[in-house]
Amino acid sequence: MKLALRCRRSWLFCMCLMALAGPGIALAESPKAATKPSDTASTAARPSQGDEAMPTETEIQQALQKAHQQFRGTKEGKNADYIPYLATVNPNLFGLALVTVEGKVYTVGDATSPFPIESLSKPFTLARLMDEVGAKKVEDKIGVDATGQPFNSIVAIEMNEDHRAGNPLVNAGAITSVSMIPAATPEARWKKLSDNFNDFAGADLPVNQEVYKSETETNTRNQSISALLDSYKVLGSPREQALDLYTRQCSVNVTATQLATMGATLANGGTNPVTGKKVVSPDTARRTLALMATNGLYESTGEWLYQAGVPAKSGVGGGIVAVVPGRYAIAAFSPPLDKAGNSVRSQRAISQVVNSLGDNLYAATPGAASQQGTGGAGRDEPKKTRPSP
Ligand code: DON
Repeated sequence: MKLALRCRRSWLFCMCLMALAGPGIALAESPKAATKPSDTASTAARPSQGDEAMPTETEIQQALQKAHQQFRGTKEGKNADYIPYLATVNPNLFGLALVTVEGKVYTVGDATSPFPIESLSKPFTLARLMDEVGAKKVEDKIGVDATGQPFNSIVAIEMNEDHRAGNPLVNAGAITSVSMIPAATPEARWKKLSDNFNDFAGADLPVNQEVYKSETETNTRNQSISALLDSYKVLGSPREQALDLYTRQCSVNVTATQLATMGATLANGGTNPVTGKKVVSPDTARRTLALMATNGLYESTGEWLYQAGVPAKSGVGGGIVAVVPGRYAIAAFSPPLDKAGNSVRSQRAISQVVNSLGDNLYAATPGAASQQGTGGAGRDEPKKTRPSP
C-alpha cells in the first residue's frame, strides 16, 4: 500500500513537472532529432501496483527479446565523433537490461559490453550532491528547470541570468555539480564520485583511460563552458579541477546491466535493490527522477516523454537508462546517435518495452477500478490496468 502511494505521488509529480517544462522545450533552437523514439510502440495502460498486476518474468524477458530483435537491424544514427574514441566503437553492439526493485535482472544482447558512461554519470553525481548539501543548495546554485537547449549549449548559460548552470543534467550544471561536492582535495572528491557510482551499480566501475585521454585532449568546448561559469562565479572549486573530474566521471565504463542496476536504485527510492545498500534518500531519488523527466534527453526530452512516458537519461557513448518509479529500470546500449546525442536503437527499444509492459506513467484507463473490482483509487485518481499480453 505504501509502495502504491509512493508510486502514485511520483506519477503526479512527473505530470506537473512536464507541464512546467513545456515552454523551455519550445525554446529549443537546435535541429530536432531526425529519428523518433518509437512511432510504432503500442501503449498499454499502466498497471495498479498490486503484485498481481506486475508483468511476469516471461513477459519481461519476451518484451526485451522482441525489442532487441525488432530494432537490431535499425541503421539510423551515427556514433559520436567529437570524442575521437567513441567513433571507433562497433556500431552494431546492442544490449538491453532490466533490473526490478526486487533485484531481479533480465538481459538480452550485448548487456555485458562495457561502454563509457558519459552524461549518464550526471544524475548519479547530482543525487550524491543533493544528499550531501541538500536540495535547496542545488536549486539555488545550479537550477532545476529544463534549458530546452543542447547539452553543451553556451547560449543557455548566457540567457539564464538566474541560473547560469541551467540544471545538473547539462554540461554546465554537471561541471558545477562536480565542483560543489564537499571534499578537501580533488582526489578526495574523485573518491566520493567513484564510490558513489560503484554504490549505485553494486560493482566497481573502472575509468576507461583511453576515453579519459581522448576527452581531455579534445574538450575545448567544455573548457569554454567552465571558463564562462568561472566568470559568473558559479563554480564551487577551481575550474581546471572541476573540468578534470567531470571528464574523468564521463570516462567511467559501465555495462547495460550495471546501468540498469543504477537506475533501479533510483526506482527503489535510493536503495540498491541488488546489494541492499542505501545510496541516497528517497527524496533525493524522487527529485533526481523529476530532473531526468524534464531534461534527461536534452532538447528532445519532450519528444521522448511524449513517446515513452518515463524519466530517462542518455549518454553520447550510446547508453540510455529509463526508470519506472517503484517498479524497475531498463538500460540500453547502442552507439549510433540522433542529432540531439541520444542513441537511436536504445530510445526505440526502451520506449517499446516500457509501453508494452504497461508502464508509461501517463497511460490510464477510465473506470478500470470498477472493472477490476479492486477499488481503492480515489475519484480523481483512475486506477491503472495492464491488459493481458
Ligand atoms: O561533456 C561531454 O560532452 C561528454 N563527456 C558527455 C556528453 C553527453 O554524454 C551528452 N549526452 N547525451
